[in-house]
Amino acid sequence: MPSAHSTAESRARPGAIRALWGIVRFLRFHPWCVAGSIGLLLFNIGIELSLPQLLGRTVTGLSRAPAPGEPAFPLRQTVVLFLALVTLRTCVGMVLGPLRNVTAQRTLGKIRGAVYDALQRQTFTWHDNARTGELISRASTDVGRLQEFIFVCLLFSVDVVAGLLGTLVLIFWISPLLGLMTLAALVPTVVAMGWFAAKLQPRWRRVHERHSAMSTVIQENIAGVRVVRAFARESAEVAKFRIKRDVFLKELFATVNEWAARVPFAQFLFGLGVPLVLAVGGSAVIRGQLVLGDLAKVVFYLLGLGGRIGVIGQVTNILQNASSSAQRILEILDAPVALPDGTRSLPSVAGEIRFENVTFRHAITPSLRVETDAGEAVPPPDSHSNPCVVGAAGPALDSVSFVIPAGARVALVGATGSGKSTLLAMIPRFYDPVAGCVRLDGIDLRDCRLADLRASVGIVFQETFLFSASIADNISLGRPGVSRDDVIRVARAAEAHEFIAELGEGYDTVVGERGISLSGGQRQRIAIARALLMDPAILLLDDATSAIDSATERRIRQSLADLRRGKTTVMVSHRISAIRDSDLILVMKEGRWVEQGTHEELTRKNGVYRELFQTQLPDATGGDVTTTA
Ligand SMILES: Nc1ncnc2c1ncn2[C@@H]1O[C@H](COP(=O)(O)OP(=O)(O)OP(=O)(O)O)[C@@H](O)[C@H]1O
Ligand SMILES: [Mg+2]
Repeated sequence: MPSAHSTAESRARPGAIRALWGIVRFLRFHPWCVAGSIGLLLFNIGIELSLPQLLGRTVTGLSRAPAPGEPAFPLRQTVVLFLALVTLRTCVGMVLGPLRNVTAQRTLGKIRGAVYDALQRQTFTWHDNARTGELISRASTDVGRLQEFIFVCLLFSVDVVAGLLGTLVLIFWISPLLGLMTLAALVPTVVAMGWFAAKLQPRWRRVHERHSAMSTVIQENIAGVRVVRAFARESAEVAKFRIKRDVFLKELFATVNEWAARVPFAQFLFGLGVPLVLAVGGSAVIRGQLVLGDLAKVVFYLLGLGGRIGVIGQVTNILQNASSSAQRILEILDAPVALPDGTRSLPSVAGEIRFENVTFRHAITPSLRVETDAGEAVPPPDSHSNPCVVGAAGPALDSVSFVIPAGARVALVGATGSGKSTLLAMIPRFYDPVAGCVRLDGIDLRDCRLADLRASVGIVFQETFLFSASIADNISLGRPGVSRDDVIRVARAAEAHEFIAELGEGYDTVVGERGISLSGGQRQRIAIARALLMDPAILLLDDATSAIDSATERRIRQSLADLRRGKTTVMVSHRISAIRDSDLILVMKEGRWVEQGTHEELTRKNGVYRELFQTQLPDATGGDVTTTA
């Protein structure tokens, strides 16, 4: 079962190295910037490594008096050369800094784009089971954390590796004995750091998970601010947030401080190398086996390396931190999309819909590893298990079979939770059946090209969502660039034109988050106009007029009848006035249809339909009463 596969597989966590590699691959999109950054950096490292040579030569030159006839040590030229090298290094640094920033930001942009694409590609099942706050945290905070990692890739890692190897080679070149002394200090330092670092990655992962849990509380409180106020839950919600924040901070401090306390220890270990070299090298100088300037060079190199050990500490910390963020991002990027596209194009759709023994259960296991209230991450299930049935209360659709003829106007009624929205969602293939199949004009939906299918099906969801954009943009969402006349035409059909015209800026009025608020009924009418503009072969209306008064609704129905003559329309409604003229009414109960027929046929029966609409039947002509099923 595809959706099962998606949910389980998506939670398999990539290893730390693989996760980082998954991010490094994004650098390939900007090869010239990367090559330029690394080239300039290597150039600067070359300058840096030549400075101790110059200083050492100066020490040697100045420490002995010139032999008779030998020219004096060229101090002035040496100082000028030193200054020139330092100036050159600064100039290169001034080019390197911006170049590195541009490369990092462009690469981050690519990663953000890929995460966004992946979120768009994911199935409904996946999104049903992912928390919005968790996704926002991963798509924004975790991606942001990678900025340092990209700097590490472009800068620190090259700096550490090239600087370390270059310095070691030069020290061995000057004196193999002092080279061995350097290694004696370096090897235990690197081993200690590796040992400390191994424990760091899981801790960073926990920090990030706790951060996500905190973000989820914030996001849900913003989205549900009205509910929080209405139920006077402010202080309880603040307390909930504080608990999440404190758990996050505790984990963060523990992780950061543990590392911060260990880096100086590693630096101390390496610092022991300087007295060692001084002791061994100093004796060699006294014995006349080593030139004083060479000892000075090695000491300068060691001091330079000491700085790099600090950088190794930083790099390790960043790598561990980033690898955990990279894992969290790759879980989204690598989550398989379990809705394989079909190959059959749908040039023209008549609109016959056929359900053949369709069974469907909603998956209820999380798509991503998440925090529970106890603060523990939910372990990913065995990928062979079937999350679609884990803990599922029962099938939302249970072996449903029926045919909707092309061009029919069909109504779907039934008690709340009986499976109406789920059934509608099978038609644009938001979900694939667990068993059975759905056919459009006789073709299994799984064989159709998704883009063609979705273009043929217009849907008005039970809950209206408007983007924070102008009303015109919201209506033309599916056909951007369409003429204003077309937008007005469908808005009129959806009985939305009048109220839009009365708004300050008409169709250019911005609605949604930052714009004006619309009433529930106004939003629904914009959603209907949006679906009508697509002029789909099949229109699905999921309780799309529930917030609209019955007089307006009657006019919308009239416009729909004119606009959609000969096209299939499936409508869910709890209002008898909306459905009584339908060619076919399907009555749903507990995931099955239990009755079907026209309004007249169904009212004659003393069945579920009559029971559902009992209160509305005496007033059936202009009924404005909704069922309380
Ligand atoms: N995303 C989901 N995840 C898990 N279960 C779900 C999901 N959506 C719906 N269900 C369950 O599937 C069953 C059918 O739900 P559905 O939304 O199809 O009912 P409905 O007939 O549209 O109800 P209503 O009239 O209230 O809109 C219900 O038991 C519901 O709890
Ligand atoms: Mg519903």
